[in-house]
Amino acid sequence: MHSVRKVTEDLYWVGANDHRLALFENIHPISRGVSYNAYLLLDEKKVLFDTVDWSACRQLLENIEYLLEGNQLDYLVINHMEPDHGACIEEILVRYPDVKVISTEKAFMLMRQFGFEIEGHELIEVAEGDTFSFGGHTVTFVAAPMVHWPEAMVTYDTTNGVLFSADAFGSFGALDGKLFNDEVDFKGDYWLNDARRYYTNIVGKYGAHTSALLKKASTVDIKIVCPLHGPVWRNDLAWFIDKYVHWATYEPEEKGVMIAYATMYGNTESAAQALAAKLCERGVTNVVVYDVSNTHVSTLISETFRLSHVVLASVTYNLGIYPIMHNYLMDMKALNLQNRTFAIVENGSWACKSGDLMQKFIDEELKNMTVLNERLSLASALLPDKESELDALADSIRDSINGVE
Ligand code: FEO
Repeated sequence: MHSVRKVTEDLYWVGANDHRLALFENIHPISRGVSYNAYLLLDEKKVLFDTVDWSACRQLLENIEYLLEGNQLDYLVINHMEPDHGACIEEILVRYPDVKVISTEKAFMLMRQFGFEIEGHELIEVAEGDTFSFGGHTVTFVAAPMVHWPEAMVTYDTTNGVLFSADAFGSFGALDGKLFNDEVDFKGDYWLNDARRYYTNIVGKYGAHTSALLKKASTVDIKIVCPLHGPVWRNDLAWFIDKYVHWATYEPEEKGVMIAYATMYGNTESAAQALAAKLCERGVTNVVVYDVSNTHVSTLISETFRLSHVVLASVTYNLGIYPIMHNYLMDMKALNLQNRTFAIVENGSWACKSGDLMQKFIDEELKNMTVLNERLSLASALLPDKESELDALADSIRDSINGVE
């Protein structure tokens, strides 16, 4: 059965939702599912923008067949050929052998690399600034390298201001019938958090490239944004762009403290909670506390992009940083995270090493980070004789948050 939504007078969402996939890219949990968005333009020419994951191919085909009403599909525009969007290219070519495929040189190269049977079909290679008319609609193609793969482009419909934005402005979370940003509570707990977790973990490393795309986007009048995942944006776009500006430039969205702790028997956890209470007593109430062992690293990364201050509280393990905490730090490095202020809590029963090692990692492996001088150093547990050190650490974080040198 088809399941489509109208975006504009002659543009339809023809994608699909997936609640069965547990891990996006086989790594990031998606408890609310994900949507694979594709769009069909019914102009003089019939144009499909991108496809969907292989698991949703049948739904895409039913949606297209329903809307085409027996007409031929004329063009397939591939903005991004990663398999969650490009997996059905071959099947579209089998069903509609006369369709002409429009994409970038690199995308065609990748299609061949993945073994797609594209030879014998008309392949139209486009580059930055090329335009194409489908009848009433004229589009221009804009290169978007590394947002999120090197072959990516976005397509701007100059006729009505629709931007097919590929992975940009996407989000985890299945649409479940809703389509537009104003049909969901995007600013509530779920959508914004999932959009941030999606961007920061999937595209976060490529902030400079995202900034370059945002700069290009600022030169045209965008009315509607059609991403490849999550809601279509038809209003309040400036609010979402502002989030992207923060993420792409690695600037925190909020002044606040994330306490990430690694504990074995609960003693480092107890210190993390005591510090959270001390901060709140000092008026710093935008505080979140995460156990790195039971919080997926994609959430830790997302929250680190959101907040200005991070407390790393880690037990020493095999004379090193607790492995899961170390993995979190490695992810920060991999995603190019910058411009945060850190405080350190270390613990070790006989050879406390984790503090120095975390400091060394921050200083040598990460960019543009600050580590506060005050450190809480524990030998097994937080005992009353350490309260003055805890107070000094809380004071230091408060002063840093408040901009007091
Ligand atoms: Fe949703 Fe980069 O693919």
